[in-house]
Amino acid sequence: MSHLDHTPSTPGKFKIDKSPYYSRTRWHSSVAKLTLWSSLFVTFLFLFFYRSPSSSSNNPPSSDPSRRYLASATWGGAAWEKRVRTSARIRSRNGFSVLVTGAAGFVGTHVSSALKRRGDGVLGIDNFNDYYDPTLKRARQALLERGGVFIVEGDINDVALLKKLFDIVPFTHVMHLAAQAGVRYAMQNPGSYVHSNIAGFVSLLEVCKDADPQPAIVWASSSSVYGLNTKVPFSEKDRTDQPASLYAATKKAGEEIAHTYNHIYGLSLTGLRFFTVYGPWGRPDMAYFFFTKDILKGKSIPIFEAANHGTVARDFTYIDDIVKGCLGSLDTAEKSTGSGGKKKRPAQLRVFNLGNTSPVPVTDLVSILERLLKVKAKRNVMKLPRNGDVPYTHANISYAQKEFGYKATTDLQTGLKKFVRWYLSYYGDKKAVAR
Ligand SMILES: NC(=O)c1ccc[n+]([C@@H]2O[C@H](COP(=O)([O-])OP(=O)(O)OC[C@H]3O[C@@H](n4cnc5c(N)ncnc54)[C@H](O)[C@@H]3O)[C@@H](O)[C@H]2O)c1
Ligand SMILES: *[C@@H]1O[C@H](CO)[C@@H](O)[C@H](O)[C@H]1NC(C)=O
Repeated sequence: MSHLDHTPSTPGKFKIDKSPYYSRTRWHSSVAKLTLWSSLFVTFLFLFFYRSPSSSSNNPPSSDPSRRYLASATWGGAAWEKRVRTSARIRSRNGFSVLVTGAAGFVGTHVSSALKRRGDGVLGIDNFNDYYDPTLKRARQALLERGGVFIVEGDINDVALLKKLFDIVPFTHVMHLAAQAGVRYAMQNPGSYVHSNIAGFVSLLEVCKDADPQPAIVWASSSSVYGLNTKVPFSEKDRTDQPASLYAATKKAGEEIAHTYNHIYGLSLTGLRFFTVYGPWGRPDMAYFFFTKDILKGKSIPIFEAANHGTVARDFTYIDDIVKGCLGSLDTAEKSTGSGGKKKRPAQLRVFNLGNTSPVPVTDLVSILERLLKVKAKRNVMKLPRNGDVPYTHANISYAQKEFGYKATTDLQTGLKKFVRWYLSYYGDKKAVAR
């Protein structure tokens, strides 16, 4: 594995490190010839015991170096394989079997449950890192579990694990949503973006191009690739070579990497540029979410304004509309065209905007929340810092509309009402239980 595996990742994230085996092998092979074979035998014993599947081990991922390889043994075993197979079993005619990465994430949970409900086989994978409160990820996991979706605990950089999953299930599709999200966090932990959004994506594509049959892949890029682009609304053909954050740069890199794997190996690849997704089970690091939390606590909230008191606005997109876009993309994805490391003919390569097409000023977002929560917000207006956020996003969605009839149908007022209802029941009840 490459040096990228040693880049710092989000705290609590799995560390994939196979070097102990290799160095051990090297050490043993350097002893006298007579003992070479017995040493190799010992090495294989080591490999067998440490690598052999153990379903009994439920150790939480640990960044303690001495326990690294134990953490990678949280998967495997006959019972585990059975759960994988059952979860991925197709239950409708012409259904898909879909590997969903980042399934314990906000979008991953909603997409997984929608696929499962319509009869597709779904298997999730997630490393449950603690970029934001992992108990929320565990709660989403429990929700999916009740719906019959199993989430394998592992990192997409773990090629051995991914290969194993493709050995067990001939996935027709991969819905790749695992990523290090967030724009500002990139300045604190840049390595985690390289680890998940670049190295992780490459490791996934490597396994997909070797799989037989190759799956079709739909994956999450981001509206942030438009960066400093000022032409609105943003159309897929607009320039995306001026990212304003490392997050955006890694998503842009992903789009170029997708091009390469499509070109060389014939992988069918569809990138989705989501525009500020919100809704129930959402992400606590996003403004609508922590505004809600802080307004309820009576804490002041930062409201950014652009240069010259300009408005900061977002094309907020409700999760159900995003899910429709993901399913539409999967349904119109053509098969990959490669096998044995070569493409037989050109394969499909697409990029779609998925937005709401109606930008709303952040001040309006706050007013809607005030009405829904019946609490006045303490607004702290400040200048938009130049650390990754762009002042304005607005999606042109006519391409997705043309290809699979995509149309967003939930306005911000309606969507936030559903979010707030979820928020109050999720956090409200918990506090009641704690008391
Ligand atoms: N929510 C938005 O507004 C938005 C906007 C644009 C793009 N996106 C993209 O959509 C996708 C889903 O976003 P989300 O909002 O659900 O984020 P999320 O953080 O809730 O979900 C991502 C999940 O991936 C998992 N993950 C991260 N790195 C991993 C790794 N190396 N191996 C295995 N699992 C890993 C995380 O634990 C998390 O559960 C991401 O690719 C994100 O960049 C989201
Ligand atoms: C939206 O994108 C389409 C191409 O998909 C383009 O033809 C159209 O002109 C764009 N609309 C605007 C308002 O930019």
